[in-house]
Amino acid sequence: MNVPDIIIAIDGYSSTGKSSFAKLVAKEFGFLYLDSGALYRGVTLFAQEQGLIDADNRIDPALEERLAGLDLHFDTDGTHIGARCIEAQIRTLEVSSQVSPIAAVPYVRAFVDRRLREFGEKGRIVMDGRDIGTTVFPNAQLKIFMTASEEVRAQRRYDEMVAKGETPTLEEVLKNLRERDYIDSHRETSPLSRAEDAFELDNSDMSFGEELAWIKGLIQGRFGIL
Ligand code: CDP
Repeated sequence: MNVPDIIIAIDGYSSTGKSSFAKLVAKEFGFLYLDSGALYRGVTLFAQEQGLIDADNRIDPALEERLAGLDLHFDTDGTHIGARCIEAQIRTLEVSSQVSPIAAVPYVRAFVDRRLREFGEKGRIVMDGRDIGTTVFPNAQLKIFMTASEEVRAQRRYDEMVAKGETPTLEEVLKNLRERDYIDSHRETSPLSRAEDAFELDNSDMSFGEELAWIKGLIQGRFGIL
């Protein structure tokens, strides 16, 4: 399929399968996939390691200055801080439990947005997150808002973590999803919300093949291509 040089913005609640879907779409169309959540997770890991966030999620204002020297970027093997690959560490429940308070801080969002927008200039990207179609790329030519039932989401994330050798309980995973969804939807700066012109995809009962067929149909209809 001959897809034009567009930006595809995928937003939605925690663990709705945004990144799996975005990776699939990127591979199918030869687009670059960018995971905006990984950058928020990277800032969270950095704050934890630097002792700039405590157990009650109080954030030391020194984080703002320290971010200026933080070399957080994507490399071929995933997210990096300098030469160090942090891909596995940023997916733990420890990071997930503090990422939403960190992502609610306006200067953290400004730091991440700057990096994300640099990629947008080139087009042919699929980016997933919470505010891609509303704030980061409000002019994205195709916006998708993903949902799935809470039970399906928790089970998927639980299975994913167990497969990586972690030992959370299903209740812990569910609690984390609910907390993040609440904070993400209620924060002042760029809260999670569906862009008016976004197409909704509820993938609770869909296979990857069905998801791909859905987006191909959408692109054909919108851009009049075969
Ligand atoms: O994979 P999952 O849906 O669980 O989360 P993620 O995409 O890795 O994002 C982790 C967290 O980063 C979210 O819960 C949000 O708090 C924050 N985030 C955000 O605020 N804005 C984005 N564009 C992406 C992520």
